[in-house]
Amino acid sequence: MTLVRDKHIAFDGIGKRFADGTQALDGVTFNVRRGAFCVLLGPSGSGKSTLLRAVNGLTSPSQGEVRIDGQPITAQSLPSVRRRVSMIHQHFGLVDRASVAENMIGGALAAIPTWRALSGLYPLPFKRKACDLLATVGLEPDHLRRPAGALSGGQRQRVGIARALMLDPEIIIADEPVASLDPKVSRDTLNLLRQAAQARGVTVLCSLHQVDLALEFADQIVALRQGRIVHDGPPAALSGSAVARFYDASLQPMESRA
Ligand SMILES: Nc1ncnc2c1ncn2[C@@H]1O[C@H](COP(=O)(O)OP(=O)(O)OP(=O)(O)O)[C@@H](O)[C@H]1O
Ligand SMILES: [Mg+2]
Repeated sequence: MTLVRDKHIAFDGIGKRFADGTQALDGVTFNVRRGAFCVLLGPSGSGKSTLLRAVNGLTSPSQGEVRIDGQPITAQSLPSVRRRVSMIHQHFGLVDRASVAENMIGGALAAIPTWRALSGLYPLPFKRKACDLLATVGLEPDHLRRPAGALSGGQRQRVGIARALMLDPEIIIADEPVASLDPKVSRDTLNLLRQAAQARGVTVLCSLHQVDLALEFADQIVALRQGRIVHDGPPAALSGSAVARFYDASLQPMESRA
C-alpha cells in the first residue's frame, strides 16, 4: 500500500466543466509523490493548464478533489495551500518596469508587512535571500537592480524560478515554463528548476509541449487528451510510438490509473 505521505499531491476524480459547457477535465485521478518532477503532456486544449490551476485554487473542480498531504483543497484551506504552492508562468509573470529585486520580493509580499512593502523597505533577510536565490539560478546580484524588462528570455525565466523559491514552497506548478525559449536555454532552465527543486525536496508539476524534454527530465509523465488521462508512468515505460499516440486524435482516452 502507498503511504499517504508518498502521495504529496492526489488528484481524485477531477472533473471541470466551464460555464459555457466546455468539459476541460473528466475523471482525472493520479498521485504525485513528494519530491517528484511530474510532467504533464498533451495536445493543446487537453486540460493541462486547467489541471495545474486546480492545485492552487485558480480553478475549482466541478467534480472530485485535489489533496495535498491528504488535506483537500477547500475555500477554508486555500490560504494555507497558497503559501505552500508557488507558480511559474509561461510568460514569466514578471513586471517589466519593476526591478528584479522588486519582482522577486513581490512574490513574498504576503509575508511582509504592508507598510514596508509600500515604502520599498524590504526586510534585510528578504534581500539576502533574493541574492542567494539569484546565485542559485546563476545570476549575479547586480541583476537585482536591473528592470526585469531588460533581461533576456532565459534570464527572465531564471528570475521566475528564483521568485518561486522565495517563500520556500513545498510545491511548484509551472505552466509551460520554457515555451518561449530556444532549445538550449529550455534545457538549461529545466535543469536548473529540477536541481533547485531536488535540493529542497520540492515537488514540481510542470506542463510541457516538448516531449524530448519531458523524457529527459520527468520522474513521472502524465499525458492528457480531451481532459482524460491516456498515460501515467515513468519515462522509461514510454516508447516513441506510445508518445505519438498521445497526440493522435483517433486514440480513445483510457481509464486513469489510481
Ligand atoms: N475559462 C474558460 N472558459 C471556458 N473554457 C475554457 C476556459 N479555460 C479553458 N477552457 C477550455 O478548456 C479546455 C482545456 O484548456 P486548457 O487551457 O486547460 O488546455 P491546455 O492543455 O493547457 O492547452 P495548451 O497546451 O494550449 O495550453 C480547452 O477546450 C479550453 O478551451
Ligand atoms: Mg495550457
